[in-house]
Amino acid sequence: MRKPCMAGNWKMNNTWAETVLLAQGISNRSEGRWEDDIDVVLCPAMPNLKAAYSVIEFDNAPIAIGAQNVHWEASGAYTGEASCEMLTEVGVSYCIVGHSERREYFAETDEMVNKKAKALIQAGITPIVCVGESLAVRDEGTYLDFVSSQVRAAFAGIEATRAQKCIIAYEPIWAIGTGRTATPEQAQEVCEAIRGCISEMFDTNCAEAMRILYGGSMKPENVAGLIEKPDIDGGLIGGAALDAESFVYLVKACLE
Ligand code: 13P
Repeated sequence: MRKPCMAGNWKMNNTWAETVLLAQGISNRSEGRWEDDIDVVLCPAMPNLKAAYSVIEFDNAPIAIGAQNVHWEASGAYTGEASCEMLTEVGVSYCIVGHSERREYFAETDEMVNKKAKALIQAGITPIVCVGESLAVRDEGTYLDFVSSQVRAAFAGIEATRAQKCIIAYEPIWAIGTGRTATPEQAQEVCEAIRGCISEMFDTNCAEAMRILYGGSMKPENVAGLIEKPDIDGGLIGGAALDAESFVYLVKACLE
């Protein structure tokens, strides 16, 4: 059985003080069983990683901290970027890579996603690799091929034993922040195809071990139908992760 994972991608939201309050709100509602039964990850903005980590550390809460981006080089003249070591130092143990917003607005390519995933694995940080098609690709009907090619590119040259510890988040672009969630059947179809792709690239053990999350307007009203699907192991949450009660509801839904 795969351990579910619920990750909150806070995107470019929350000041330092708001970060502390939200992390406290989630920490206060956390339960000891989270440690064993689910991986809960909060991904605040880069300057607020330490603030969130300090709250979690102080409370000794069963919650991990994730970053939203990283650079693959160890150091150097890369203005505005942060390395794996810098993230580790502030308590980061997960990192989102290849989010569609980074691919679209910051020209992040499949090759960059691959380099970031490799650097993170090397540093002992778990990559959460995002894939997902636009509405145009969905309407064309080529979305399974499109998403599979993103998965193949992201995991090229990575060994199976390392790949299986990574997380993939399927986030159809047309469902992000739009309120238009993929139906459980639509999400399951793609998550199953992703698992099939991992099985072909590596082996069935790797595919069975890897966690695949759904992201895109997941909220308390629709979480149950999505996470009961066999290939959906949790969620990568945007809007609903900015409210402690909603986010904790989503976490608890994975434990039922
Ligand atoms: P929403 O949950 O706001 O649709 O965002 C999903 C997302 O992009 C998480 O990474």
